[in-house]
Amino acid sequence: MVRVRVPATTANLGPGYDVLGLALKLYNTVEMEKSDRLSIEIEGEGADSLPKDESNIVYQAAQLALQELRVTNYELRVKLVNNIPLARGLGSSAAARIGAIFAVNKLMGDKLSQDEILKIAARLEGHPDNVVSALVGGLTVAALTGNKVKFLRFSKVRDDLKIVVAIPDFKVSTIEARKVLPKNFSLIDVVTTSSSILFTTAILTGEGSPELLDESMQDRIHQPYRKKLIPAMDKVFNAARKAGAQGVALSGSGSTIAAFSIGNSEEKNEKIGQAMVNAFHQAGHKSCYKTLEVEREGAVCL
Ligand code: HSE
Repeated sequence: MVRVRVPATTANLGPGYDVLGLALKLYNTVEMEKSDRLSIEIEGEGADSLPKDESNIVYQAAQLALQELRVTNYELRVKLVNNIPLARGLGSSAAARIGAIFAVNKLMGDKLSQDEILKIAARLEGHPDNVVSALVGGLTVAALTGNKVKFLRFSKVRDDLKIVVAIPDFKVSTIEARKVLPKNFSLIDVVTTSSSILFTTAILTGEGSPELLDESMQDRIHQPYRKKLIPAMDKVFNAARKAGAQGVALSGSGSTIAAFSIGNSEEKNEKIGQAMVNAFHQAGHKSCYKTLEVEREGAVCL
C-alpha cells in the first residue's frame, strides 16, 4: 500500500499563462493498493460530488500509468483525502492526476521517470504548468514541446513570500475559461507579457524588487479576458493591493484570487485576506481566505 501527498498549485502567476506554476502548502492525499475489484473512497472536497467509478480522474490517470507500464488486470483500492477545493484554480485536478500516477509508479517499483510521469499527466490536463509544480514543488517554468514536457524548477524562492488566496463560493471550469481567450495576439501584447514573466520570476526568486511585482503580474494574454467570469475581479485585486499585497493574480483560470505578500506580518496577511473576502462579499459572493506558504518538495510518499 502506498500513500502519496500532493500539493495544491497556483498557475500562471499573472503573465505566465500555461508556463509558471507555484506549489502551495495545501494537500490532497492518495492512498492506493492492489485489490480484486475497483473501490474508491473520498473524504473532504468532492466526497459527495465526485464519481467513485471508472470515470473518476484518479482512476483514469492510474489506468494510463498502468498501461504505460504494460501492466494488465490490475484493480485498485483507492482512498482520496481532498483538501484542495475543486474547480477553483488551485490545481485540484493536477494534484489528483499526479497523485494517481505517482502512486501507481511507487506500487510498481518506480519504473517511470519524472519526464514520463509528467508526459501522462500533462496529456490528461492539456497544459503543463500545474502538474509540473505539483510533482516537483516550488516555482516552475514549463512548456509542452510535442507531447513532451520541458521544465525547470527554480532552486530559490523568496523565504518571506506568503500567498493569501481568496476562494469564492463559485466554480470556474478551466475548459470554459480557455474558450474565452483570443487565438491571436498583437506583437506588443506578446512582448509585454514575455517581459512580465521574467520580471515576475526574478522578483519571486529574490532577484528583483517587490515594488515591481504588481505591474509585472498584469498580463495581456488571459486575465483581461477572464474578468467576465469572475465577478468583482478588479475590486478584489484592488482590495488586496490596498491592504498591502505586493502583487495579485488570478490563480490558474480562477475562481480563486491569489495575493502575493512579501515580508509582511501575519496581521497584515489577515488584513489582505479579509479585504479580498469583503470585496467578494460586496459583489454578492461568499468566500474564505487562507494564507499559504510555498511547498518546496512537491509530491512525496508518506
Ligand atoms: N494555465 C491554465 C489556464 C491553468 O490558465 O487555463 C488552469 O488552472
